Amino acid sequence: MITKEQIASKHLPGHIAIIMDGNGRWARQKGNPRVFGHKNGVAAVRDTVEASAELGVKYLTLYAFSTENWNRPRTEVDALMSLLVTTINKETKTLMDNNVRLLAIGDLESLPANVAKNLKAAIEKTSTNTGLNLVLALSYSARWEIVNAVKKIAADVAAKKFVVNDIDNEIFSNALTTCNIPDPELLIRTSGENRISNFLLWQIAYAELYFTPTLWPDFRREHLYAAIADYQGRERRFGKTSEQISENVNAKG
Ligand code: FPP
Repeated sequence: MITKEQIASKHLPGHIAIIMDGNGRWARQKGNPRVFGHKNGVAAVRDTVEASAELGVKYLTLYAFSTENWNRPRTEVDALMSLLVTTINKETKTLMDNNVRLLAIGDLESLPANVAKNLKAAIEKTSTNTGLNLVLALSYSARWEIVNAVKKIAADVAAKKFVVNDIDNEIFSNALTTCNIPDPELLIRTSGENRISNFLLWQIAYAELYFTPTLWPDFRREHLYAAIADYQGRERRFGKTSEQISENVNAKG
């Protein structure tokens, strides 16, 4: 069993992103409707947020609702939206107690008015907190975000803010909904599916990927520690050789 102390004493990922998957299967296995899985997924969210804040992780991004999730049955979409509102309202105090700042990425204008309103209020209330940044990806998909970024950049070129040749990684990153948020270093997906599902495609260029069979409602801090320990055991080369990386480490002493 990996302890919090073992994790925190080593290099922590500054940004962890999670594809929370398996709520529906978890509920079905128990003979319950899918929404029962989403409701129980909230306990996993709470424990993961608390554990990340305690460890000193700076950013935690949760894929809570994708652009494609709008195509689910109306009753499930409505239940997810109302779960979001109740959870945001209920948990704002916990966010304050843990010095967590809430942020959101995605097509936020497509959210129902009451979700947008409550989300905005919680974002404002927590805006001066200085600990963990909790980023909710809502009505988000990476392709939507990338197409949007291209439109913004094209408009800036048309407005002569810069020329086509100026476009580089920085200009592109700044046009994404994640501008000002560092790229994730660790991406976790639960439920045994080995896919990225249109999540942060640009930002995970160098992220370490970690897939676990645990279904999201069963995910707790021990599972997070296991994922971080796995990450800490990996060599991140960013296209360099293993020798170059160890020379660098030795040079730093
Ligand atoms: C994926 O499981 C999960 C979701 C689409 C929703 C996640 C939402 C929560 C955990 C609830 C509230 C979250 C916050 C941040 C307040 P799935 O339905 O795709 O499961 P399946 O693959 O087994 O069908």
